[in-house]
Amino acid sequence: GNVINIAVIPGDGIGPEVVAEAVKVLKFVTNGGDQQVDLTEYTLGAEHWLKTGETLTDETLEAIKKHDAILFGAVGAAPGDTRIPSGIIERELLLKLRFSLDHYVNLRPSKLYAGIESPLANPGEIDFVVVREGTEGPYVGNGGSVRTGTPHEIATEVSVNTAYGVERVVRDAFTRASARPRKHVTLVHKHNVLVHAGHLWRRTVEMVAPEFPEVTHDYLHVDAATIFLTTNPSRFDVIVTDNLFGDILTDQAGAITGGIGLSASGNINMDRTYPSMFEPVHGSAPDIAGQQKADPTAAILSVALMLEHLGMSAAATAVEQAVEKEITSRQELTDHRTTSEIGDAIVALLA
Ligand code: NAD
Ligand code: IPM
Ligand code: MN
Repeated sequence: GNVINIAVIPGDGIGPEVVAEAVKVLKFVTNGGDQQVDLTEYTLGAEHWLKTGETLTDETLEAIKKHDAILFGAVGAAPGDTRIPSGIIERELLLKLRFSLDHYVNLRPSKLYAGIESPLANPGEIDFVVVREGTEGPYVGNGGSVRTGTPHEIATEVSVNTAYGVERVVRDAFTRASARPRKHVTLVHKHNVLVHAGHLWRRTVEMVAPEFPEVTHDYLHVDAATIFLTTNPSRFDVIVTDNLFGDILTDQAGAITGGIGLSASGNINMDRTYPSMFEPVHGSAPDIAGQQKADPTAAILSVALMLEHLGMSAAATAVEQAVEKEITSRQELTDHRTTSEIGDAIVALLA
């Protein structure tokens, strides 16, 4: 068989802890199959920056581009760590990867698994995906500050939304919806205030929708969307939204489905011009780092998304099913499983 080359970026905090378990599962599930997996680790993140002053060099970026996919843990310093200016690692490493590799579909599925307690009293069935735009919006860094630090400071962050960028992600959302049982797309924006970008998104949905007559669609302002995520999350099937709204909604989605430690994501380049990157939705969680307290499930489910993207559907399904069983089996335990115990339990279920 052929060899699949994966770049692994464990990162900071709990990143290396959860990635170790994800790698354990990845190696196990691909062992003996006709596609061999070869892993190359890249040391990057806040700790690496402190040691070297480097975020992501062009040379490293070029090396990463040669891989078939990227498995990413988490990066970033503790909010109170004054040695690292906030935003450097996020912008110059994580967002640089997403932008340079044209990860325009930031896919974030949310599912309430059997045996997981939602903080909602009546969660109902929760099974939706957020298709978050990944390369534009307020994330592009188009802004500035004048008279910085004075009482007259003016700071701007200009959201960039292109017809090209919006159309490709909206089309992706409809394509995904058409393959799902409920076939429904909800556009989330704030077109009553953000009229320029909002109307572009709305017009784009109206333009693309007729190509998918089997898919229904509706619209919610982002503030109302947060209400329904709390009061009636079952109404959602596919949510399509911009980069910032998608960031916020997917942390909420993680919370209602029992914790951010279960939320996986894919930063996907659907054109396959560059490798896609798979990572948990959560960050480096400095508050629990180094204690084997982190739930590696999000990282392991990100491996399933990666396998699916690489065409290894059977392996992807096997990982998902093992995860689902492991989650259910947690109910019978009196103690919490440690990070590596969860990885081991999932491997045991795969065996
Ligand atoms: P966070 O996601 O790291 O943590 C938020 C809360 O969730 C914390 O209480 C944490 O303990 C908990 N949590 C997170 N992952 C968990 C897991 N797997 N199991 C159990 N609990 C978990 O968000 P934050 O505190 O806002 O950010 C910390 C750092 O991470 C910052 O530097 C931030 O910029 C960075 N960050 C990076 C990424 C990324 O690399 N993709 C994502 C988000 C935040
Ligand atoms: C996420 C994170 C990132 C984002 C940050 C760390 C740049 O919060 O992956 O959700 O905002 O996209
Ligand atoms: Mn986030």
